[in-house]
Amino acid sequence: MIYPPSSETIQLLSQKLLDHEIIALPTETVYGLAGLATSDQAIAEIYAQKKRPQFNPLIIHGSSLALLKSQVIWNSWAEKLAARFWPGPLTLVLPKNPASSLSLLALAGLETVAIRMPSHPLMQQVLNQVGLVAAPSANPSGLISPTCAQDVENAFEGRLPVLDGGAAEVGLESTIVDLSGKTPHLLRPGGIALEELEEVLGPILQGVPISIKSPGQLNSHYAPRCPLIMNVKERSEGAAYIAFGPDFPESCPGLFNLSPTGDLKEAASHLFARMREADQAGYSYIEVAPIPNEGLGLAINDRLKRAAAPRH
Ligand code: TXA
Ligand code: MG
Repeated sequence: MIYPPSSETIQLLSQKLLDHEIIALPTETVYGLAGLATSDQAIAEIYAQKKRPQFNPLIIHGSSLALLKSQVIWNSWAEKLAARFWPGPLTLVLPKNPASSLSLLALAGLETVAIRMPSHPLMQQVLNQVGLVAAPSANPSGLISPTCAQDVENAFEGRLPVLDGGAAEVGLESTIVDLSGKTPHLLRPGGIALEELEEVLGPILQGVPISIKSPGQLNSHYAPRCPLIMNVKERSEGAAYIAFGPDFPESCPGLFNLSPTGDLKEAASHLFARMREADQAGYSYIEVAPIPNEGLGLAINDRLKRAAAPRH
């Protein structure tokens, strides 16, 4: 059921979290399926609802820097990145503080914790009431992430309370950086561009074997129903087409433009919604125009690659 935002609904939904129930909440990246971060009961329910492989750990969200810091062994890289990008679409992976009381189920047994301070004001209001929540994206595992309340309502067929916070502004998940080793590593491109992080930290490694460290990097993910093909310059007959930039007709059946002006930020914010529309437009497959691999284009291409990957 969708709850319009008000101080009453925020109170009611926060209480549900404190009672170990799970709810869907808006963030600036995508909607999250949230449970109290210390509650094994709530976390087990999140995994069950998402049908998520149990080895895939969750991001811990908080609105208080002190509370987030207290769960990990903080360091100077984290200090710099948090000062610049929090609250916002950036997740930091740090060694776990042995004194942390987070649900071990949420961490999937890892010795590191992924933490993030989201900027969506409604999410922050809930976090102010309840402390820390674990929240994966609010989609069944492997499918397209939700960028509005109705996406969540449809995916879980009305079974879960959803706080309506409008359309997600960023539209792609947070960037994940691993700061737990000798050098920073990019584990997942996302809402903050790699170039912006490198301005603060210097060079960041990527493309290392991370299959165990970030199991969310499963190959097939964000999958539409139809097969999806990337880097197609000219649309074929019988395909829905996801375009990018000014060289396309403004309106044409089966054509979905991520950004007619060629703006990668706008494209990122529309990606999942356009993928859903293309998937439902009645074509047998989806073609996607080439997207420049810079700035947020890195994260867009990452999501498209997974959507195009062979299904398991
Ligand atoms: O923008 C976001 O990050 C959204 C919103 C709801 O905050 N959340 C999100 O969560 O994308 P999820 O569960 O769909 O993706 C979390 C990713 C997974 O790929 C998981 O493997 C990785 O974070 N992760 C979590 N804890 C980790 C850890 N300790 N080390 C490495 N990767 C970790
Ligand atoms: Mg996800």
